[in-house]
Amino acid sequence: MKIAFAKPELPAQGTLVAVVAEQRKLGQLATQIDKAGKGALARALAASRFKGNADELLTILAPAGTEADRLVLAGLGEPGKLDALVAQAIGGRLIATLNGAGEKEVAIQVEVPEGAPLSEAALAAQIAYGARLRAYRFDKYRTKEKPEQKPSLKKVTIMTNDPAAAKKLFDPLDKIADAVDFARDLVSEPGNVIYPETLAEQARSLKSFGVEIEVLGESAMKKLGMGALIGVGQGSERESQLVTMRWNGAKDSKQRPVALIGKGVTFDTGGISLKPGAGMEDMKWDMGGSAAVIGAMRALAARKAKANVVGIVGLVENMPSGKAQRPGDIVTSMSGQTIEVLNTDAEGRLVLCDAMWYAQEQYKPQVMIDLATLTGAILIALGNYQAGMFANDDALAEQLSAAGKVTGELLWRMPLAQAYDRMMDSPAADMKNISGSRNAGSVTAAQFLQRFVQKGVAWAHLDIAGMAWADKDQPTCPKGATAFGVRLLDQLIAANYEDK
Ligand code: BES
Ligand code: MN
Ligand code: ZN
Repeated sequence: MKIAFAKPELPAQGTLVAVVAEQRKLGQLATQIDKAGKGALARALAASRFKGNADELLTILAPAGTEADRLVLAGLGEPGKLDALVAQAIGGRLIATLNGAGEKEVAIQVEVPEGAPLSEAALAAQIAYGARLRAYRFDKYRTKEKPEQKPSLKKVTIMTNDPAAAKKLFDPLDKIADAVDFARDLVSEPGNVIYPETLAEQARSLKSFGVEIEVLGESAMKKLGMGALIGVGQGSERESQLVTMRWNGAKDSKQRPVALIGKGVTFDTGGISLKPGAGMEDMKWDMGGSAAVIGAMRALAARKAKANVVGIVGLVENMPSGKAQRPGDIVTSMSGQTIEVLNTDAEGRLVLCDAMWYAQEQYKPQVMIDLATLTGAILIALGNYQAGMFANDDALAEQLSAAGKVTGELLWRMPLAQAYDRMMDSPAADMKNISGSRNAGSVTAAQFLQRFVQKGVAWAHLDIAGMAWADKDQPTCPKGATAFGVRLLDQLIAANYEDK
């Protein structure tokens, strides 16, 4: 699907989209078409339930007053609420509707209703961005799809009075969308295709964007003392990997970086503490945190963010076997702290604790953020609408919340406190990897991680277990892998950590 920006011109075929604000307030183009069609549009509107709300579309076939095959009225809703996210959702819904209708070409006329907070160029760019995000599809293994089952749209033209300005705003968004698509692909790929070495290989492809890549295998990690991470991967035939991605975009190359850490369990069977069979296939997306970090690094590098950022992902496969870690095993993490592994299915924290320690030892970050599909309990608490955020620093929590609101990748802050921390004490080692109670499961997981945060480091942990995958289509994301975190992290850096 190609997206282009052009000056307004009435198309002679395909679909024409005209905008309508709330209460059926026709835009200029719609008014013009209504006049040319001698009021046919007003009659069609009156016969429909379409009100011009921001989630409404009205399709009129062979419309009077234009040569287009189809006229779609797209609601813009209340002008005061027409922000970037609303615009993206409009673009996304339009594309989904037209792809389902078999349309090949669409021209979207963009007009800003009075009182809207967006410029015309921004509205055009954001509609295009939403269209791109929704157009994602993972269909490489569907070899027998009929043409009518495939998306039909080939060309989207956004018509605006200043196409050059719109294009300029769209360029970085287009790159972020590329990164989102890339991360969605990584999450969608099954465990037999994406395993630690192949995921590391995918991360290596970021070299072409100017990202420095370093990959450590098991022997290097053993030398560093990463007993916790290695223990998780020990039952698998696949070698564990630790990938570091560096983007140094700040003027001051010595400026302490922002560290982004991702959980990359390419498949989580639970290990010897085996998960039930039903639904286990979902655990191919237990590397969603690492995909978000890899995607964010790509977005930052592609748009040449003026910040120093290091992304570190711990990649392992959690399998049961004769070599696998046993419940009760005690491992020594890189930090020197020992961990009693009471449940081999609480593996994400074991991977993260060594990746986090490594990040702090190697790169002395000012800020460290980890993303992980860490606990089922966060789904019980927050469902599929917001990720859980834990932070030891209020300013960082605020920055993340704000970035969430801008991108629509919402975060809800959860507590950290000493009483929860104590639940992770073990009589046999410095700590255990599960509390032994189902209560506050996401909090105790975060408390475990906090034991690996060094003094003076502002840290946040995002539990994205409910957000990495969507069961239902959303306006800017078809069902499946969401790449949750890519846009959030990019926005966090853009708003707070780039040179002015
Ligand atoms: N990867 C899972 C968490 C998960 C569960 C993500 C459901 C997405 C959907 C994690 O490794 C895990 O198994 N966590 C356990 C922890 C428990 C053993 C303390 C869980 O949540 O049940
Ligand atoms: Mn697990
Ligand atoms: Zn897991």
